[in-house]
Amino acid sequence: MKVFYTKKEISEFVNSIIREGKTLGYVPTMGALHQGHGSLIEQSITENQVTIVSIFVNPTQFDNKADLNKYPRTLENDIELIKKIDASIVVFAPSSKELYANDVNSKSYSFDGLEHEMEGKHRQGHFDGVGTILDLFFNLIKPTNAYFGEKDFQQLQIVKKLVSKLNLNVNVVGCNIFREHSGLAMSSRNERLSKEARAEAAFIFKTLKQAKIHFGTKSAAKVEEWVTNQFAKNTHFNLEYVSIANVNTLKPVKRKSKKQQYRLFIAAFIDNIRLIDNIALN
Ligand code: PAF
Repeated sequence: MKVFYTKKEISEFVNSIIREGKTLGYVPTMGALHQGHGSLIEQSITENQVTIVSIFVNPTQFDNKADLNKYPRTLENDIELIKKIDASIVVFAPSSKELYANDVNSKSYSFDGLEHEMEGKHRQGHFDGVGTILDLFFNLIKPTNAYFGEKDFQQLQIVKKLVSKLNLNVNVVGCNIFREHSGLAMSSRNERLSKEARAEAAFIFKTLKQAKIHFGTKSAAKVEEWVTNQFAKNTHFNLEYVSIANVNTLKPVKRKSKKQQYRLFIAAFIDNIRLIDNIALN
């Protein structure tokens, strides 16, 4: 299997694929791969002639140094896992120095307000960091299609905005959330949960599903209040935010309209580990 570490190597490879006129699927990751990533990779393989997976823990999107340091790094396992899916996949695993040289800083972007909601409020500079790294990767890899999970739904909408603002010729594909048997959304962070916390974390999806039922008959404010109360009663969790928002603007719903689509978003801590999840409401 091909594993590239430098911009020069990946550019040469990408240019050869473009010369051959082949479609290129791209799955950006920060490693610590799980079945959720596996499903994005499988979709890319089905829809493209060549698939590239990048593995890079991007420092500029972490607002918290401790979180960056604790982020799991399992490159050898990741490469083995990808090889098992399909050995023709190409892996790009650059170092921070290779990508950023000595300037480990974000550029600053406007995503027309999407960046000020939810994660944007709680993780300072996060989306500038995501924009910076994807701007760089999209320009290096020039994918036909790029795959993102809906667990990070706000990120998905921001990536679509980035591509449209930068006029990039990339089709951004959103993929369904992949869940553990318990319903917990797959995340590299789940590896850091104790066995007990991991079992308890199924509470998030259980609450989302019940909230969806309530949304049929109650106002958005009432459903948010109900969710807040459920979390207040659960001693394992600290709820950071709950928001019922319009899927396009990500702005909180004031008054429901049948013509609009909504999602319920949650961020909560368990054992000091921050988990996010969301569900389509209509
Ligand atoms: O979702 C992620 O893992 C990261 O935000 C991404 C898209 C790989 C950018 O670093």
